[in-house]
Amino acid sequence: MNCCQCQGIEQVFDDKRAREELEEYRKKGVKRTTRMLLGAVETAVSHPNSLLDIGGGVGGIQHALADKTERIVNVDASSAYLALAQEEARRLGYADKVAYRHGNFVDIAPELEPVDVVTLDRVICCYHDMEGLVSASVAKAKRLYAVVYPRDVWWLRLLRPLATFGLWAARNPFRIFVHSQTAVDALIRQQGFQQRYRETAGMWQVVVYQK
Ligand SMILES: C[S@@+](CC[C@H](N)C(=O)[O-])C[C@H]1O[C@@H](n2cnc3c(N)ncnc32)[C@H](O)[C@@H]1O
Repeated sequence: MNCCQCQGIEQVFDDKRAREELEEYRKKGVKRTTRMLLGAVETAVSHPNSLLDIGGGVGGIQHALADKTERIVNVDASSAYLALAQEEARRLGYADKVAYRHGNFVDIAPELEPVDVVTLDRVICCYHDMEGLVSASVAKAKRLYAVVYPRDVWWLRLLRPLATFGLWAARNPFRIFVHSQTAVDALIRQQGFQQRYRETAGMWQVVVYQK
């Protein structure tokens, strides 16, 4: 992966952080917003044939849906997260139904088949080319497209330069983004999706679209 942001992703989402998150997941389960996303997905499609989880982290969505899903693809730009998601899937006994792909989803997308459900949980905010990421990922969804991403509010836009300064000072090329909600929503609807669920929790919005 030669994009600057992807190099930053490997630095930020490293083995130490991945192990801490896996420990937290084992103790407490998925985060509140992930629970909200899973609830809305399972209400809309109880047994998806196939799932594409982009930037799945330690794999909370995959672990929750594995029993009900035939085939899973996990694409992650962080090799540490991908390895731990696989380790946990092995422990839970379902790793053989998952294809693990390391890299930038935007680069890998042309090689992937469409699936029933596509999820991006707190991923859009980690990538500079929102249009490229959202368009390419919606194009892979046959039934549902589910996202958790930051609300487009002034106080988050105000905090972003502080986060950027901290990362710059630490010589980390990773950046955080607050993308326009109107632009994200328009890209998804352009490909024939309707909003089925939307809730907010703190800085996050959980949105599920159905075709
Ligand atoms: C904040 S973490 C979220 C992890 C998990 N989804 C969760 O909510 O706990 C962002 C994840 O997105 C991945 N990511 C960001 N941009 C990506 C891209 N363009 N292609 C693949 N993975 C990406 C990162 O490697 C990381 O695993």
